[in-house]
Amino acid sequence: MEETKSTELGTVHTTSSGAPVGDNQNSMTAGARGPTLLQDFTLIDKLAAFDREEIPERIVHAKGAAAHGVFEVTNDLTKYTKAAFLNTIGKKTPVFLRFSTVGGERGSADTERDPRGFAIKFYTEEGNYDMVGNNTPVFFIRDAIKFPEFIHTQKRCPISGLKDPNMAWDFWTKHTESLHQVMILFSNRGTPNGYRRMNGYSSHAFKWVNEEGESFYVQYHFKTDQGVKNFTAEEAHQMKADNPDYATQDLFQHIDKGEFPSWTFKVQIMPEADAAKYKWDVLDITKVWPHEDYPLIEVGKLTLNRNPKNYFAETEQSAFSPSHLVPGIEASNDKMLQGRLFSYPDTHRHRLGPNYHTIPINCPYRVQTRDYFLAGIHADEHEGTAKIPYQGKFNDAPKECPEHETKKYKVEGEAGRYDQSVHPNSDFEQPAALYNKVMPEMEKLALVENLAGHIGACREEIQLAALEAWALVDEKLSKRIRATINKSCPTC
Ligand code: NDP
Ligand code: HEM
Repeated sequence: MEETKSTELGTVHTTSSGAPVGDNQNSMTAGARGPTLLQDFTLIDKLAAFDREEIPERIVHAKGAAAHGVFEVTNDLTKYTKAAFLNTIGKKTPVFLRFSTVGGERGSADTERDPRGFAIKFYTEEGNYDMVGNNTPVFFIRDAIKFPEFIHTQKRCPISGLKDPNMAWDFWTKHTESLHQVMILFSNRGTPNGYRRMNGYSSHAFKWVNEEGESFYVQYHFKTDQGVKNFTAEEAHQMKADNPDYATQDLFQHIDKGEFPSWTFKVQIMPEADAAKYKWDVLDITKVWPHEDYPLIEVGKLTLNRNPKNYFAETEQSAFSPSHLVPGIEASNDKMLQGRLFSYPDTHRHRLGPNYHTIPINCPYRVQTRDYFLAGIHADEHEGTAKIPYQGKFNDAPKECPEHETKKYKVEGEAGRYDQSVHPNSDFEQPAALYNKVMPEMEKLALVENLAGHIGACREEIQLAALEAWALVDEKLSKRIRATINKSCPTC
């Protein structure tokens, strides 16, 4: 009786089967100096658990930091969406937000030049809604079929095991739609000063559908209330040596001290009818919607106020997907998004198993799930419950809600593979606007130096291709990059 009590209090060390461990320091051997016995369950239990401690790291966004928090609605946007978690001013929804770098491994430095992931899980009363965005409003490519090869150019070369600027610029100059995102990446926004001081964006357009069945395209912007703050290339480089976990620590310590970071959630809304007439393809993720045409409308405030208690259980096992939607929020035909809808749950099944959604951090705990999934590895949610295995005419099985079915939409044309570079000049207008209209001279200078440093490390033919590509955005920019490369290497 006494022993059971102390086990409950957590004072007795046990094996994985719960039996008290008598000696945790000495293996069981045949005699004091003899071989170890196969019957030593304490030892084998421990070694076997250790041997399996690692799970596959995320193929991208492997290094990350996360926190719990709350989202509160501050504006009534029910005329655009019926999503229940957005339907009342003052309504609060628990959230979990994971920030990340993209190309590095789980042990890589937080201040590498890279986009940053900004993935939010809203635990709503209609199931989990995931907003899996980045800190940039655009992306490098506009078709999912290019994503795996694009990522290969950002990761280590399979021959040398080294990062290779030649691969990166060879890809970017072949795909000039990437230049907009590359410009943001090589501005100081490519090295944010921690996760608290950057914005988050959906980057894709999604669809919002209201109670009347009207739909709108929508873009999300999460504006940091801490103010945007970035490192210069030099500061970011130095921080790699001083504190490679800078962003992780900065987030954890501020929340620990009660200094809770927050973001103001805003949207751009476009009536569906506008989309066909707009000067750009509004579903092209390499483009933004200018604020002048589609101003930001406030939705609410997201605050992070609680650190995870267990990094592996919460941050590492969290599984976000753009396909985790709720009624009132639907996918658009954006070709990148369409590929992502498949890719995330697919990788979760590989990384975390087929029942990844039952892991507590991923569980839609505010609803009672009633599916027809019966078993599989770690089918923990079914424990102790009598499940109805099928939907019949005469049984009392869970029923559909036709009012929540995805809104029907028109498709037209012939099935086939269509070249997406249909507006040849439109790859360059928006980066040109960013460079000429938005960036002050200090930011232009940083951009030129950062680009010159990276391009200057490439083979000559690739340098020339990169300079030609930048000339398509802005002749003067290309000349400045060339001059800066020549200055640092006069004989090149
Ligand atoms: P606006 O002048 O209305 O807005 C400029 C935007 O640029 C602001 O949102 C600002 O973000 C952001 N910004 C400032 N410096 C950088 C940088 N180095 N990298 C990325 N973004 C930056 O302009 P428009 O809406 O007419 O767009 C002009 C250009 O601004 C676009 O071509 C695009 O490159 C960029 N941009 C536009 C966004 C949009 O959704 N319209 C969003 C972000 C960038 P903040 O206010 O947080 O400082
Ligand atoms: C993570 C695929 C584009 C944001 C991932 C992961 C995969 C993936 C496989 C790992 C997920 C995991 O192991 O849990 C793809 C594909 C893309 C694409 C196939 C294009 C077709 C994008 C874009 C964005 C984005 C455009 C942002 C707008 C993220 C984020 C994560 C992530 C934030 C990390 C999520 C987390 O914190 O767990 N992506 N991605 N991805 N991706 Fe993408």
